[in-house]
Amino acid sequence: MDILGAPGPCFSLSQRSELASFAPLLMSETTLRFGILGSLGRGSSFIRPLRAHGAACITALCDIRTEALREQAERLEMPHTFTDAEALLDSGLVDAVVVGTPMQFHVPQSILALERGIHVLSEVPVGVSIPECHDLAAAVRRSRARYMMAENACYFSDCVLVREIARAGLFGRLTFGEGEYTHELKSLNEKTPWRRRWQTGINGNTYPTHSLGPLLQWFRDQRVVSVSCVGTGNHYLDPRGVSYENEDATFTLCRLSGGGLIKLRLDMLSNRPACSACSLQGTEGCYEAPRGLGDQPKIWLKSRHGEMRWQPLRDMEGEFLPQAWRHPPIDAREAGHSGSDFWAIQDFITAVLEESDPPIGIHRALDMTLPGLASQVSIDQDSQWVAVPDSRAW
Ligand SMILES: NC(=O)c1ccc[n+]([C@@H]2O[C@H](COP(=O)([O-])OP(=O)(O)OC[C@H]3O[C@@H](n4cnc5c(N)ncnc54)[C@H](O)[C@@H]3O)[C@@H](O)[C@H]2O)c1
Repeated sequence: MDILGAPGPCFSLSQRSELASFAPLLMSETTLRFGILGSLGRGSSFIRPLRAHGAACITALCDIRTEALREQAERLEMPHTFTDAEALLDSGLVDAVVVGTPMQFHVPQSILALERGIHVLSEVPVGVSIPECHDLAAAVRRSRARYMMAENACYFSDCVLVREIARAGLFGRLTFGEGEYTHELKSLNEKTPWRRRWQTGINGNTYPTHSLGPLLQWFRDQRVVSVSCVGTGNHYLDPRGVSYENEDATFTLCRLSGGGLIKLRLDMLSNRPACSACSLQGTEGCYEAPRGLGDQPKIWLKSRHGEMRWQPLRDMEGEFLPQAWRHPPIDAREAGHSGSDFWAIQDFITAVLEESDPPIGIHRALDMTLPGLASQVSIDQDSQWVAVPDSRAW
């Protein structure tokens, strides 16, 4: 099966029984009709997980690249395409949308959907400014529809395993975490000019959710209350010879509501292979993600390992990794970003059908986004500590 899954909303009986065996909701009688905004980019990653879901079908695609969209629709046998998001939302064809467009469109398109009672699964981050995040939070409050941010790093198997170990209390009191997004994007910046403006055209942490998301899951009910951001300076020109507006790498120190500390590193410019490791420190144990070249995820827990030596994290899977991650269905194994896109779709659809709060609803999504926006203020003010708003108080 290719990355797009079976054509149309149907899937085979064997797939159905495999899916039904681990998540009864997948086989719900309800069918949510999805539209995908930005269907030729990141939005395309959700096509297969949606087609694999028994309670979902894709009814409309939207992208501004007309010719490529026509070809995509033909390939997917999709009759309804739009080049304007609002027209799709007004078409009556969808109950929910994936907002997979560039960052600066997430908030305006999400608000348009929510105002029409259409559920939103948005790509990361929530938005590009604090005022627009405020507007979105108000729109979520007013709407009967659900909002979730698809922060897929939270669904990586190792992150879920560390989350479960943290919830069992084996790390003791959590004191420190590190998260990184180090992904050299100078040439991609030129191909997707919105990145040049919104990711590398602003100083500070413009893309915080992949690094902060898993850490906030581990620190559970905590949020970042203040940040201080510092950078390495600017040492690169873009391929057109123009200096980037942001520093090559920025480091954002985050004070947490429970007293702990997080350090975020963002680097989209330095010449280095991609490697985005994270780590966690508690009073009774610690965890380190691998850094490549055969390195393994490792853990040390006082209560389990005695002598202070790293142990393979994977040894803990049998006891702590949730069943669904231990025996994932084929669509999860083959979905994008190590299957994490599959799990985000599951949680979103469950929340919509059960009318429950999604795991990364508006406030948790803003907990992962607002520290980045506050870091942009901090770095402009000589790294002064800047308070991060709590959207629950808005
Ligand atoms: N979660 C992840 O792992 C991950 C990975 C990559 C990108 N992203 C996020 O996904 C979003 C898209 O990134 P990308 O890499 O796909 O970018 P991209 O530029 O490659 O693709 C975006 C697509 O949206 C289309 N588009 C642009 N404006 C539009 C509009 N107004 N209406 C409809 N379609 C429009 C473009 O034509 C393009 O096909 C970004 O916000 C990015 O932060 C997330």
